[in-house]
Amino acid sequence: MSTRTVIRGGLVITASDEMHADVLIEDGRIAALAASGTPAAESFTAERTMEATGKYVIPGGVDAHTHMELPFGGTFASDTFETGTRAAAWGGTTTVVDFAVQSVGHSLREGLDAWHAKAEGNCAIDYGFHMIVSDVNQETLKEMDLLVEEGVTSFKQFMAYPGVFYSDDGQILRAMQRSAGNGGLIMMHAENGIAIDVLVEQALARGETDPRFHGEVRKALLEAEATHRAIRLAQVAGAPLYVVHVSAAEAVAELARARDDGLNVFGETCPQYLFLSTDNLAEPDFEGAKYVCSTPLRPKEHQAALWRGLRTNDLQVVSTDHCPFCFTGQKELGRGDFSKIPNGLPGVENRMDLLHQAVVDGHISRRRWIEIACATPARMFGLYPKKGTIAPGADADVVIYDPAAEQVISAGTHHMNVDYSAYEGRRVTGRVETVLSRGTPVITARQYTGHAGHGVYTPRSTCQYLT
Ligand code: URP
Ligand code: ZN
Ligand code: ZN
Ligand code: ZN
Repeated sequence: MSTRTVIRGGLVITASDEMHADVLIEDGRIAALAASGTPAAESFTAERTMEATGKYVIPGGVDAHTHMELPFGGTFASDTFETGTRAAAWGGTTTVVDFAVQSVGHSLREGLDAWHAKAEGNCAIDYGFHMIVSDVNQETLKEMDLLVEEGVTSFKQFMAYPGVFYSDDGQILRAMQRSAGNGGLIMMHAENGIAIDVLVEQALARGETDPRFHGEVRKALLEAEATHRAIRLAQVAGAPLYVVHVSAAEAVAELARARDDGLNVFGETCPQYLFLSTDNLAEPDFEGAKYVCSTPLRPKEHQAALWRGLRTNDLQVVSTDHCPFCFTGQKELGRGDFSKIPNGLPGVENRMDLLHQAVVDGHISRRRWIEIACATPARMFGLYPKKGTIAPGADADVVIYDPAAEQVISAGTHHMNVDYSAYEGRRVTGRVETVLSRGTPVITARQYTGHAGHGVYTPRSTCQYLT
């Protein structure tokens, strides 16, 4: 049976257009758009009508960097696929791309199967997977080809975390050469982890154990150096490169230079780097542990370079790197030794709102908001135009957004399974009102109407953003 919904009177915003339009949804997809009040729009008939006058009608967010249930430092990220994707929906995100993990000594397939088992039947919204490659060898290189064919078209490697996720330059080069051949996209955690480990050891020996020293040892120069090295290795391999969680101004400069040279090099930053700083890491009474993530928060002065990069398209995507650990019992593992604080921040619920606040504050335009949060992540990771836009044929992943509502972000009201908010007390203008996932209301007028298992695995094509 066909079910139709019409969303009337809102301002439809995509990466390319703004238009007062009615949106007709049929069988989970966008069927048609027509300027509101015109005969074409009046001809839309549906079983369900949603009124959006005075509201924005935007594509559901695409968060291309989450870590539900990630094992890290002897514990696990506190959001499951069930709680994390539900929180994502509350925040106007309708697709996440999470990272399946290969453990050293095991195959990519084992890691991917394990992540499918965690996610299947549990997600409120659609999801895909990247693959973390921790062990590059002849077998895993062959497996990369198979994964690309079945829709896992991007691979994260780490220049940080020696002994855990780390790859050396030879392993990185081999994986890049392989991706140059199979169409995969290497996503790089660009920090010089070998050098950082020396600085960690020296800091701890000096008695520098507080969370703020996490930010001091993970130097901006060591992010910039690794970013430069990753770019040159990708250039040698003839492969595109996507650098994740860029936080240092010096790293943005490396990306900008490479892009000026015409290389297919891309950069992602995250709300925490745009809105938080080393001031948070320095909060007393171990509160700084709430802000420990890698790359680390930087001094405030770096933020201008990130905003500029987002405007000039030297940075293309804002993802959350959502990787929550509770303060009580998890972040606390690092009392007396900052290197034992599990790395990661919660944020999957906050991204769309914080970026709308950036529109209000004049950092970016409305269309750029949708581009960096919906359209480009979808193109970058092979989900476009199914995801990331409102156009005939696209999945009806649609958010009705109230641009005038005021809210205060707080752990007391958020839906992520974590006992603090990195943005506690922050006032933002704008709020998600209703969220459709493939035409099904998962948030309806600020009530959760979805269910675990509605979200389905979404295989991806190769990168659609190459020049
Ligand atoms: O601190 C972070 N970013 N934790 C998640 C793992 C990663 O490196 O992305
Ligand atoms: Zn990383
Ligand atoms: Zn991450
Ligand atoms: Zn359903």
